[in-house]
Amino acid sequence: MEKLSLLLVLAVCACAEIVPDPRVIEPPIRVDMPPPAETARLSARNVFQTFISMPVDHFNPQNSDTFLMRYMFNEEFFGGPGSPIFILVGGEWNIAAGWLLGGNMFEMARENHGYQVYTEHRYYGETVPYANFTTENLRFLNVDQALADLAYFIQAMKQQPRFADSPVILYGGSYAANMVLWFKQRYPHLVLGTVASSGPIKGQVDFTGYLETVHEAFLSEGGEQCIDVIRQGILETVEALKTEAGRRSLEQAYRLCWPLIDYDDVYELGYFSGLISWRFSGSVQSAQPGVLTNICNNFLGTAYGNTPMEKIGGYIAQTAGLTTCWDMRYEALINTYSQPRSNSRAWYFQTCTEYGFFQTAPRIGTVFDPLVWLTVDFYVDICKKAFSERFDEEFVYDAVERVNLAFGGLEPDVNNTINIHGDIDPWHYLGVHDRDLKESSPTITVPRASHCFDMQNWLTTDTIRMSQTKIAARRIVASWLQSQE
Ligand SMILES: *[C@@H]1O[C@H](CO)[C@@H](O)[C@H](O)[C@H]1NC(C)=O
Ligand SMILES: *[C@@H]1O[C@H](CO)[C@@H](O)[C@H](O)[C@H]1NC(C)=O
Repeated sequence: MEKLSLLLVLAVCACAEIVPDPRVIEPPIRVDMPPPAETARLSARNVFQTFISMPVDHFNPQNSDTFLMRYMFNEEFFGGPGSPIFILVGGEWNIAAGWLLGGNMFEMARENHGYQVYTEHRYYGETVPYANFTTENLRFLNVDQALADLAYFIQAMKQQPRFADSPVILYGGSYAANMVLWFKQRYPHLVLGTVASSGPIKGQVDFTGYLETVHEAFLSEGGEQCIDVIRQGILETVEALKTEAGRRSLEQAYRLCWPLIDYDDVYELGYFSGLISWRFSGSVQSAQPGVLTNICNNFLGTAYGNTPMEKIGGYIAQTAGLTTCWDMRYEALINTYSQPRSNSRAWYFQTCTEYGFFQTAPRIGTVFDPLVWLTVDFYVDICKKAFSERFDEEFVYDAVERVNLAFGGLEPDVNNTINIHGDIDPWHYLGVHDRDLKESSPTITVPRASHCFDMQNWLTTDTIRMSQTKIAARRIVASWLQSQE
């Protein structure tokens, strides 16, 4: 008996040594917004951080609870009373000083003597109405409350005499692009104009268009040959799932810490499918020109591995910076969304209760079609397990319909909004990218550009169209401001 338990202890220790840090991968539903790279070496001495008190519930006068909303500001360019205020609107991430030290809004502020602000969204970063994100405590997390936070914030600023006559410009990327567009629509009297970068303004539960665009991006940047290798690799993988020998080679090719718990469980398979599709998605979503072509060159050579399946496993490990192995237990994925407090949990809650955005397997012949376990049921099961059994498919579909009704889906009625998209950005599918929103709200869609590309300042990798778009946004904003004078 004693011998046996000693053996067990030894076995456990050995395991712990081999796998010190199993990694979990999350779907790229939540976007992070790292500041422009060139700001990393700049001193942030001009950027200050502070907090403002906010009602927890803007829509119930009987609730007097408040919380502290974080924001940052930089007044180095401010031209005095009446000069404009530029607000970078935070979304589902932590705000960071770098965004007030570089990027396209920074250039706008410089050119127009603007005061720069960066606001943090409730329930993200250090802006937390409740320390513990129980499902109950998350009930004040929605875009209506977040837009009202912005309205209160602008109102509070305008009470300072120096800002009383200052026009306000909002800039936002990704979900925050939806926010600035919807803010201008709902509170037109509070802002002069907005720049909406890559806004997926239509909620959609079964978002097959996302992976369709990822496929298109690899095809247009890497060509048929590249797509063929990826297709073969995914097909080989799906075949390998069916036999014992195949499973062992797959576990090795993909650097799994241990075999899947159950090779017949649709959720385990859904998560494993995510390991594959989410990395391709990640590459496309952040791609600057040249990046996908490089990846494709590696797929055609042996930098990622030898067989097509090994190449996919190697690509995922290399581009994700994997040093150990992947923890492919579905339970581990659920756990990451069940932590008492995280940006990931807060955003997943918003997808279940407002947007869907579930990146499911396409059904039109893309390389991702065989990953049939990426279903609405898979993503909604996470809603149910991480938040509440009540968050079932019907609930999520109803929630998304409410948001599309409230904001107009692809038919918003909004003036003075520059609506920018990149045409290899998988999110452009849920935005208006093929027509102007209105005469005063032009749409600019840019070939080879990806998610939120225009938020950065000029980059050496930019195409001419990309830099022209950044300049065009600045010129349009300047023309709004001039018409005010
Ligand atoms: C958060 O609340 C839940 C449910 O009430 C509780 O089980 C958990 O221990 C709390 N976590 C923290 C860190 O307070
Ligand atoms: C947009 O501007 C036009 C022209 O000033 C005005 O007639 C219209 O009511 C505005 N629409 C909205 C939604 O503000």
